[in-house]
Amino acid sequence: TYELDGRLLFARQMADGFDKSQFSLKPVACESVGGYIFICLAKEPADFAPVRAMVEPYLLPHRLREAKVAFESTIVEKGNWKLVWENNRECYHCAGNHPELCKTFPEAPTVTGVQGADSDPDMLAHWAKCEAAGLPSKFRIDPAGQYRATRAPLLRDAVSYTMTGRRAVKKNLSDSVSTDRIGSLLLYHYPTTWNHILGDHAVTFRVLPISATETAVTTKWLVHKDAVEGVDYDLAELTHVWTETNDQDRRIVEENAFGILSPAYEPGP
Ligand SMILES: [Fe+2]
Repeated sequence: TYELDGRLLFARQMADGFDKSQFSLKPVACESVGGYIFICLAKEPADFAPVRAMVEPYLLPHRLREAKVAFESTIVEKGNWKLVWENNRECYHCAGNHPELCKTFPEAPTVTGVQGADSDPDMLAHWAKCEAAGLPSKFRIDPAGQYRATRAPLLRDAVSYTMTGRRAVKKNLSDSVSTDRIGSLLLYHYPTTWNHILGDHAVTFRVLPISATETAVTTKWLVHKDAVEGVDYDLAELTHVWTETNDQDRRIVEENAFGILSPAYEPGP
C-alpha cells in the first residue's frame, strides 16, 4: 500500500529490519498546464517554464481542465514513433489520403504557420479576428522547434471537423469562448502530443513509443462538461473524421515502415 505521495505505507511478510522508506514509488517530474499533464522521466528534467509561458495563454480560454472526455481511442501503428511524427508534420499526403478531414481542414502550407503565414491575408485576418476576441492566435514556435501554437481557419464556413463542416456539439467547448468560426488551435509538443482545439470540441493526441516497430496513438475527444451524448452530440458524428484520419495515417506509417524494413532499403540523400 502506498500513500498518495508515493511513500510505501505497508508491505506484508517482509523480513525484520525491512526499511519501507527505501521502497517508495519512483518520482517523475510532473507539470500541469491548461488541463494537460506533462511528465518527464529524466533525472534532471528540462525547464518547463518556457513551454508554460508560451502555450498557456493559448490554452486557458478553452478551459480544457473542465472539459469531459466524450471518447478515447488507442490504436497501435506498426511503425516507429519518428515515422508517426514525420507523417503528422507534413500535409502533402492530406489531399490524397484524408477525404473526410479535407472537407474542412485547409491543406495550404500556410495554415500550420510555418511557411508564409505572415503574408497570407486569410491567416492574418483570422488571427486579428480571434485575438480581438481575446484568443491568442498568432503563430509562435519554440526557438528549437520543439513546440508550436497557431490558430488556423477552417475551409469556407466550416466550424468543426464534421462531414458537413457544421458543429458536432451543440454546446460550446468553453463558456469563455463564444466567437463563431475560430477555426482550430493547432498545438504540438515533440515528441508526445499534437492537438486541435475548436469552438465546439477538442481532439488531443498522445504518441507513445512501444518498440522499434510499434507506436500507440491515443486520441481523446473533449466536449463541454455538461454536454450530453445523444442530446448535445452524436458520438459517431463527433468521432468520425479523426477516426478515419487516424486509420488513414496508420496505413501510411505502416507502409513506410514496411519499406524501411526491406533489405533493399537505402536512405535517401
Ligand atoms: Fe495524415
